Amino acid sequence: DSATLGLYGLGTMGSALSLNILEKGFALHVTNLRPEVVGEFQAEAAGAGLAGKLHGADSLKDMVAAMAPPRAIILMIPSGDPVDETIKKLTPLLAKGDTIIDAGNADFHVTRRRTAEVEALGFTYIGMGVSGGEDGARHGPSMMVGGSPAAWSGIRSVVESIAAKFNSEPCADHFGPDGAGHFVKTVHNGIEYADMQLIAETYGLMRNGLGRTPSEIGDVFERWNAGVLESYLVEITAKVLQATDKQSGQPAVDVIVDAAGQKGTGRWTIIEAVRLGQSANVIEAGVAARAWSSEGKARVAGSEVFDTPLETLELSDADLEAALLVGRIVSYAQGFRILNAASDEYHWSIDCARVAEVWRAGCIIRSSLLDDIASAFRGDLPEGQLIFSETFAKFIRDGFPALRRVVSVAVAGGHPVPALASALGFLDTMRAARGTADVIQAQRDFFGHHGFEHIDGRRDQHGPWWD
Ligand code: 6PG
Repeated sequence: DSATLGLYGLGTMGSALSLNILEKGFALHVTNLRPEVVGEFQAEAAGAGLAGKLHGADSLKDMVAAMAPPRAIILMIPSGDPVDETIKKLTPLLAKGDTIIDAGNADFHVTRRRTAEVEALGFTYIGMGVSGGEDGARHGPSMMVGGSPAAWSGIRSVVESIAAKFNSEPCADHFGPDGAGHFVKTVHNGIEYADMQLIAETYGLMRNGLGRTPSEIGDVFERWNAGVLESYLVEITAKVLQATDKQSGQPAVDVIVDAAGQKGTGRWTIIEAVRLGQSANVIEAGVAARAWSSEGKARVAGSEVFDTPLETLELSDADLEAALLVGRIVSYAQGFRILNAASDEYHWSIDCARVAEVWRAGCIIRSSLLDDIASAFRGDLPEGQLIFSETFAKFIRDGFPALRRVVSVAVAGGHPVPALASALGFLDTMRAARGTADVIQAQRDFFGHHGFEHIDGRRDQHGPWWD
């Protein structure tokens, strides 16, 4: 049965999610660290005709006291220490069977720790990834839930009814215990970083290599958004590039400092990939590019030390479009490889097809590819690899020459394309039946007597350099 719902944290995302919950007809108790915000929110909800089932409280204590058990309390607060502090304040107020839901972006290792701590006290804990920004929270986010099945059944109806819909199916699901939901969200963000970087590199080639204006490039992205690249990120990139700064009259992007922020989810994806013995090099390129972008002063110095001009490029829009598509496919594929590896390691049994389905609407990385990705995971995947599925192998085969041309031309002309080049490096490696790690094994044996596996299957062999 559904629990009584409460929400703590009426910032941008918390208010938007609250209005969404109220609009779907659920009763909701709310409060906020600064209680004056509660009244403002009540006025906003009343203005939208949604205050009928809204109960505001001045403190967590008053809110919990006003809620009939079992309670489910959603935390919409900054991730990190504030979550631990709130859990500490909240648990003495709760009764057995109550649930705490962390709906922020949390490191899944931390969510596992919090789940164990909270559940040891007799409560249930849910780590829930929520994607889609403010608009998603208000009108339908994509939601990735981790926690016990019992905890999930207590909130399932509300989560499914506030979620984005794809073909009228809710874009929300339960992916496993403790940290599973937050991990799925983390990988979503890793892919988000990669896709944003691929788009930014493609913009860079058109701007600096083809000499186009931002608004011309915006028009290209707008056109692409009507084809195979259809996606939220391409759509908003078109809008961003077509926008003009009111004050200066310049393209809006030209008045923005070229240093990207990051709150950690991309980094967590990479850290976990490496921990699991994987490499998601396109996602890593996205994280790396953000880190380098923040070294603005060093890059200004670098532009003087190595002042080779960026060459004008000859590239067709069709090649750029195909290269971006293949890069995007590789970044999704790498995200799913990490999900699979983590699911095995932590015994989550994550259903990748369901993940793809939940990402089809509401979230930041939604794109027309995700429905095909879900189908691919339901079908035959040679070696478990998305890139070898019939549909995606075809996309890649068709786009390979374009990606190769784009990366070659860009590299020859001095244009940085770390993410596109990473996608090409990954694909070229994954189609080399025999690679070059024999030499690495020989080197390891030479200097460290590490031994190697012989091609005839014998293990722990040593090279003639030890005879
Ligand atoms: C989403 C987004 C969002 C996230 C920022 C984080 O799915 O709605 O991923 O949850 O907070 O986009 O990214 P930064 O590290 O770039 O701040």
